[in-house]
Amino acid sequence: MNLIFLGPPGAGKGTHAKMLSEKYEFTQLAAGDILRRNIKEGTKLGALAKDVIARGELVSDDLVNDMMFEEIKVLKIAKGFIFDGYPRTIGQAEALEKFLAKENIPLAAVVNFDASEAVLVDRLGGRRLCAVTGKIYHVRNMPPKKEGICDCHGQPLVIRKDDEPATILNRLKVYHESTKPLIEFYRKKGLLHDVPADGDAASVQKVLEKLFEKIR
Ligand code: AP5
Repeated sequence: MNLIFLGPPGAGKGTHAKMLSEKYEFTQLAAGDILRRNIKEGTKLGALAKDVIARGELVSDDLVNDMMFEEIKVLKIAKGFIFDGYPRTIGQAEALEKFLAKENIPLAAVVNFDASEAVLVDRLGGRRLCAVTGKIYHVRNMPPKKEGICDCHGQPLVIRKDDEPATILNRLKVYHESTKPLIEFYRKKGLLHDVPADGDAASVQKVLEKLFEKIR
């Protein structure tokens, strides 16, 4: 079963994509994670994306499309994938539609994480990450056992560069301008499922699991 997770920054796409991937053995394909990996490895794509991400803007459609198509081709996907944070523009969605049709890959559903702006700002402001695994924490909502330290590796937790307050506001603005129109794009195709995402992680996860049991 192949899915798209759509929603504003901080809505919980990454958190729940990871939780569901563990439970159902999906492959998580997170555009932001792949871009950050390229920055860390010093690739040409990473060099092109670095400043764009730091400003909270979108990397160009062509670069992101090629990156995601390449990722699908090289990975051995057994039980389906979750596109997390891709597509993010109408141009990306149209290119993806063509690619999936050409490769004969079906798309089961698009999950729209619907969260209020105040919740998003609070979540992004308190987000912390394990520098080794990318495991996501929140200082209050989902804290590690020991403050500032990852439960898995004992490494210090880090703050994402684009989680600075001014960059958060720009990312939200970019979401409204470029990504929100995808809700209607996929609703018209009968693929969209809205998931209220203001609740705590356990309750959102419950709604998602119920939805998957229905779609499967
Ligand atoms: P990306 O890394 O994808 O960032 P994003 O879409 O802005 O999404 P986030 O990762 O910030 O939020 P999320 O919804 O995954 O929330 P999370 O689960 O972490 O992209 C980064 C950048 O890369 C973009 O700005 C752009 O420049 C570029 N890029 C990426 N994709 C692109 C594309 N397709 N095209 C062009 N450019 C692209 O949760 C957030 C926090 O909340 C965490 O602390 C978590 O612990 C907490 N939390 C989560 N759920 C809950 C809950 N239910 N209750 C309480 N707390 C919760």
